[in-house]
Amino acid sequence: MAKAWTFTARVLHWGMAIAIALEVGVGFVMAQTFLASLKGGWPALLHLRSEQIHHTLGFTLLALALFRIARRLRHRAPPPEPMGTPARVAAGLVQALLYALMLLLPLSGWSALSALGSGAGYEAPSVWFFGYDGFAPGGWIPHLVSPKPWNAPGWLVYGTFARFHVYAVYVGGALLCGHIGAALYHHFVRRDGVLRRMLGRD
Ligand code: HEM
Ligand code: HEM
Repeated sequence: MAKAWTFTARVLHWGMAIAIALEVGVGFVMAQTFLASLKGGWPALLHLRSEQIHHTLGFTLLALALFRIARRLRHRAPPPEPMGTPARVAAGLVQALLYALMLLLPLSGWSALSALGSGAGYEAPSVWFFGYDGFAPGGWIPHLVSPKPWNAPGWLVYGTFARFHVYAVYVGGALLCGHIGAALYHHFVRRDGVLRRMLGRD
């Protein structure tokens, strides 16, 4: 069996890593410009553009994650590099959690916007795929939960999903620190093939 990850697995891994980094950066710009955007001017335009990019790229990442997970279930990983059982279990656990977050992040973001209806001084979100409004009547993005004003009581409201989304970002960041740190440790300290086989140099 080949020792390196396949070309498709490598393109998905590195392509999605870059796209997720971009999505996180744009997400922070979007969140940080929200209050200033209410006064109009350039902050409003920056907020609008970052929303459009965040939502469009977020849905693309959801589709890619579904494709990547379906593909991964049908293709075996290359045989593991020699390492102790605790290290192998920890790596597998972190990678499984990263897969879970690749689904939960876009799904919680989509749920948050689905739950956000007009009212309480705020309009329902209508910004999708740049000019195209997927939530409009006849649009092809379904609401995952029914929309209510942002400050409505109950659990299935904007705040619940948005809080989950933001906490998931920080959990993902911590997991990635471990994942990247381990990859660099294997490459520079143990000098084994763990990183090389994800770079296709094996
Ligand atoms: C892998 C995909 C995604 C990642 C990594 C991601 C990341 C982020 C980040 C870093 C923030 C800023 C967090 C903060 O305020 O501190 C954010 C906010 C937000 N994202 Fe995403 N996001 C993703 C997908 C989506 C999708 C698909 C949607 C909706 C279609 C979405 C909707 C939102 C909303 C509504 C907020 C504002 C939450 C708030 O601050 O109240 N996200 N996201
Ligand atoms: C958003 C960023 C990233 C995500 C979501 C991510 C996620 C993953 C996942 C889920 C796997 C398991 C592959 C599979 O089972 O199909 C994996 C493998 C791997 N990742 Fe990442 N990764 C990211 C960034 C990085 C970075 C920046 C590095 C290196 C510095 C890296 C190095 C590796 C290596 C070496 C493997 C292969 C491990 C092995 O062969 O057992 N990853 N990654």
